Amino acid sequence: MDLKDKNRILITAALPYANGRLHIGHVAGAYLPADEASRFFRLKGKETHLICGSDENGAPITFSAMREGVSPQDIVDRYHRSIRDALAGMGVNFDIYSRTHTPRHAQVTQDFFLRLYERGHIVKHTGEQVYCTVCRSFLPDRYIEGVCHYPDCRSSGARGDQCEKCGRPIDATKLLEPVCMVCKTLGRESRGHIEVRPTDHWYFLLDGFSGQIREYLESHPEWRESVKRFSYGLLEQGLKERGITRDMDWGIPVPLPGGEGKVLYVWFDAPIGYITFTREYFESRGQPEAWKDFWEDPTAGLVHFIGKDNTVFHAVIFPAMLAAHGGFRLADAVVANEFLNLESDKISTSRNYAVWVDEYLAAFPADPLRYYLTAIAPESADADFSWKQFQQRNNSELADNLGNFIQRNLTFCRRYFAGKAPESEGPTPAGQVILDEIEAARREIADLLYDFRFKAALERLMRLSQRGNQYFAEEEPWKSRKSDPVLCARTMATGLRLVEALGVFMAPFMPTVAARLRDFLNLPPLAAGDWDAPSRLKGGHPLREPEVLFPKFDDAAIQPHIDRLADSPEK
Ligand code: 2FM
Ligand code: ZN
Repeated sequence: MDLKDKNRILITAALPYANGRLHIGHVAGAYLPADEASRFFRLKGKETHLICGSDENGAPITFSAMREGVSPQDIVDRYHRSIRDALAGMGVNFDIYSRTHTPRHAQVTQDFFLRLYERGHIVKHTGEQVYCTVCRSFLPDRYIEGVCHYPDCRSSGARGDQCEKCGRPIDATKLLEPVCMVCKTLGRESRGHIEVRPTDHWYFLLDGFSGQIREYLESHPEWRESVKRFSYGLLEQGLKERGITRDMDWGIPVPLPGGEGKVLYVWFDAPIGYITFTREYFESRGQPEAWKDFWEDPTAGLVHFIGKDNTVFHAVIFPAMLAAHGGFRLADAVVANEFLNLESDKISTSRNYAVWVDEYLAAFPADPLRYYLTAIAPESADADFSWKQFQQRNNSELADNLGNFIQRNLTFCRRYFAGKAPESEGPTPAGQVILDEIEAARREIADLLYDFRFKAALERLMRLSQRGNQYFAEEEPWKSRKSDPVLCARTMATGLRLVEALGVFMAPFMPTVAARLRDFLNLPPLAAGDWDAPSRLKGGHPLREPEVLFPKFDDAAIQPHIDRLADSPEK
């Protein structure tokens, strides 16, 4: 069943690791499109819930704690708040933003693990793991780096869990020229003391799910090419059992005898977080059973938004875990974005080479960034953020095109129609063309959004706004105002209808501006189902005094941000 035909939709956005600040790459990757989709579905009248939270377990957290010399709990407390606030500042409107280092999530995850174990999908055996003889401990995959073991890649800087370059999962014991990252971080000689030693672990028998995963992928030919290509590629290579426990003390304890000193692998617990958080959310609303409507009933919609480095987990491993569990349905869509670069260079947290969301928000409003990140959305290829282009597109597209059209119409009505929507005897022929175009755009933008083609949907919106400017220029209402007031009223009533429609269609992308525009139009805030609502602007409807919706950004506002990047350390 098509998402279009579903009345209830649950949307998840990848759980960000609570070990660093949020940057624009995160926003463009998963959170902005997830928010846009959920806002759109609501406007379409669908019961929609947007679920997320911090990913607080695992080696990424303990690694950051070690680097900063504080406890893992300190790290997750600090960054959970910081990420939550940054996302809220960007207008990403989660129904719940929870966290995974909680007793509740531990219990849901352990129950899930035990069910898989009882059903024979998890086995324990002695495996091999990387051990540092200087640290005298087994190293989590993230703690070693080396050269990618795939013969056709061989790039350096591959982590023990995944190669950043080719994106494939890494077998840490096979990494070439391995280096201990603990030793490296603490300034010790890090080469030459990695060994592979035996240790007991539990393994998920992923290999038994190849057939089901293939069928699952085949039932979704509409997914993005990159997700399909990558997932089929993994199937071609053959799925293998996956170790799902680690020798660590930070995380969710293994709930079986012999599990002492071991925790569940973070990538086992993190996607289960979507289920935990859905439960927490509906419990907080006094509907403790309602989560099942989304996780058990395939007539509801379920969509995962992720960055491309999370594809293997969402399109292959988590669906296999859900299938192994037996009680759950699988997602309708896994929507993965490619990477966002910055001024033609890779965003790097360690080099402080990023646009941090909190810094951005201290200087600019959220919506122009939402606009620009959608306009360049890395949907089918990596994209590049450039401050100059951000400035230029804000000034020309938002201020001069969209903002100008809205402003001209509202100001004209305030000035020459006593601040009211004009009383009109119906559209002129040219106005009727515009009204038809509004309806065409309403359908086309919706179709694009149902396909998660946010960038194309935004372009369609901007084309409609351009048409508005053209209409205003061609109809010359400033002339007909004197020569033919009746004609002028007809022209302006149509112009205002277009302003109203643009305010609805822009709402998924730029919710704050859309809300202000509703206020200028003296209309109630947008509500469920308003995408298809008829115009509320009757002749004589009083309008409010408009203000500038899209300020321009001058060089003095932009330059410090460019300079800041130039100061980041060399690679
Ligand atoms: O890559 C990441 O940032 C992971 N923390 C994403 C987890 S998504 C999910 F499965 F929870
Ligand atoms: Zn070491």
